Amino acid sequence: MMFNLKGKVAVITGSRRGIGKGIAEALAEQGANIVISDIKQKDCDKTAKNIAKRYNVRAIGIECNVSSRDDVNKLMDAAVKKLKKIDILVNNAGIFVQKPMKELSEEDWDKIIDVNLKGVFLCTKAASKRMKKGKIINIASIAGLVGYLNAPAYCASKGGVVNMTRENALELAPKINVNAIAPGVIDTPMTDFLKKDKKLLRQTLAGVPLGNVGKPKDIGRLAVYLASAESDYVTGQTIAVDGGWTIQ
Ligand SMILES: NC(=O)c1ccc[n+]([C@@H]2O[C@H](COP(=O)([O-])OP(=O)(O)OC[C@H]3O[C@@H](n4cnc5c(N)ncnc54)[C@H](O)[C@@H]3O)[C@@H](O)[C@H]2O)c1
Repeated sequence: MMFNLKGKVAVITGSRRGIGKGIAEALAEQGANIVISDIKQKDCDKTAKNIAKRYNVRAIGIECNVSSRDDVNKLMDAAVKKLKKIDILVNNAGIFVQKPMKELSEEDWDKIIDVNLKGVFLCTKAASKRMKKGKIINIASIAGLVGYLNAPAYCASKGGVVNMTRENALELAPKINVNAIAPGVIDTPMTDFLKKDKKLLRQTLAGVPLGNVGKPKDIGRLAVYLASAESDYVTGQTIAVDGGWTIQ
């Protein structure tokens, strides 16, 4: 069977909804046991319960703010205690703030970098220490590969994730493969602002050769490949799932 994840344990940050939840579902569909993690315990429990029921795997919720070292250490300890090990870490938690440089405050900058970049560092550091062998998948963005207007800190954070993926892949080889996925515009609550503004949506889609918005499942499918033995010789890469956004 290709993409067999039966018995693997996957920790996915920011996974109560959106892309993180889509990845959790895709991994669970291949048999992985799942740790749903997000900032509120109640939301984690709800998503975990649904996944356990739907895919017949173990799924638990553990609250964690990825920019807090204490929370991150507690998350990884609890994952190992409750599900015995960590095989797969998906660094998905992230925030998007669209403001031009002149409106972006120092506090905005710090918050975005703390969640999107420092969060990946803290989670990878804490999880890799506890992993024997396995896969780490970082959720970057097209905004880490090309410029995305009016999002200076977001672009910096995601560009940082893309190159930290290469460094982490070097440092953790041959034990752990580290790769990143760069989503284009995906249908989640993060992109509600686009769906509400039909003109902006049309303008945005004009830059997408495949002409439509992606779904969390599109990211989940690549995450399954990167989490599985099928990608054992792939490391340090960032793969765009963006309908062609970054090829022109
Ligand atoms: N939706 C898109 O078009 C798109 C495009 C490119 C990249 N991304 C990236 O994909 C990832 C998921 O985004 P999404 O679209 O599902 O957004 P989303 O807002 O639906 O989900 C993000 C989740 O992260 C959680 N989160 C935020 N701050 C956190 C923190 N400090 N600690 C733990 N959890 C936290 C939120 O509570 C939320 O559940 C993000 O890293 C985002 O930057 C999204």
